[in-house]
Amino acid sequence: MNEQEKVKMRKIFKIILIMFAVLIVVVVGFAAVIFLNLSGLTATGSETLTPTGASVGKALVVYDPGLSGAAKGVADKVASDLQADGYTVVLAGVRSETASDTTRYGIIVAGGPIYAGAPTSSIKDYLNDLQPDQGTQVGVFGSGSGPEEASDVAMIIDAVTALSEGGSLSNAVVVKIGTGEDLNARAADFVKQLRA
Ligand SMILES: Cc1cc2nc3c(=O)[nH]c(=O)nc-3n(C[C@H](O)[C@H](O)[C@H](O)COP(=O)(O)O)c2cc1C
Repeated sequence: MNEQEKVKMRKIFKIILIMFAVLIVVVVGFAAVIFLNLSGLTATGSETLTPTGASVGKALVVYDPGLSGAAKGVADKVASDLQADGYTVVLAGVRSETASDTTRYGIIVAGGPIYAGAPTSSIKDYLNDLQPDQGTQVGVFGSGSGPEEASDVAMIIDAVTALSEGGSLSNAVVVKIGTGEDLNARAADFVKQLRA
């Protein structure tokens, strides 16, 4: 190999090294965004949806919006279904002050994206700290990919101590709603179970 070829090889090697470094930074950055749950940290807003007729009760829907907003879409749909059923609905980001006041609600729903089978840390912490009034029906949704399987629900329950057997929320209705599923039908069925 002559000197010119050696210089060329070194250049190619350098370019490959730089590309590899960039790839590692991108992968680590993506993992950090997901596992440090940055989407949950930004969920500080809240709004109240009032029913058209007389209110039949109060419902709280707490969400981690996720990175693409798919989980927020599920929360919006569940909230609007509860509103249509006559509830005054407080729709609150998991890091909002509104979400931390959990008294006087007939229904409390919390949910966000599912990564590696588990809800995000903000939703896990929220559920483990949740102390609903006696008689409050709690619902949990995970927004994931693919249709719900029994194992998806089992993994969500396993990941949250309060939902597991003997936990304070072991009576909660737990569902996974996949991005490819019929959101209208799944949200309506979830709300029906919460109201049963
Ligand atoms: C690293 C990673 C792990 C995931 N693990 C699961 C999983 O275990 N079950 C599932 O249903 N979806 C899983 N998904 C899909 C996400 O839950 C789905 O894309 C969801 O809509 C993510 O919401 P977001 O993009 O708003 O954060 C995973 C996605 C990523 C990127």
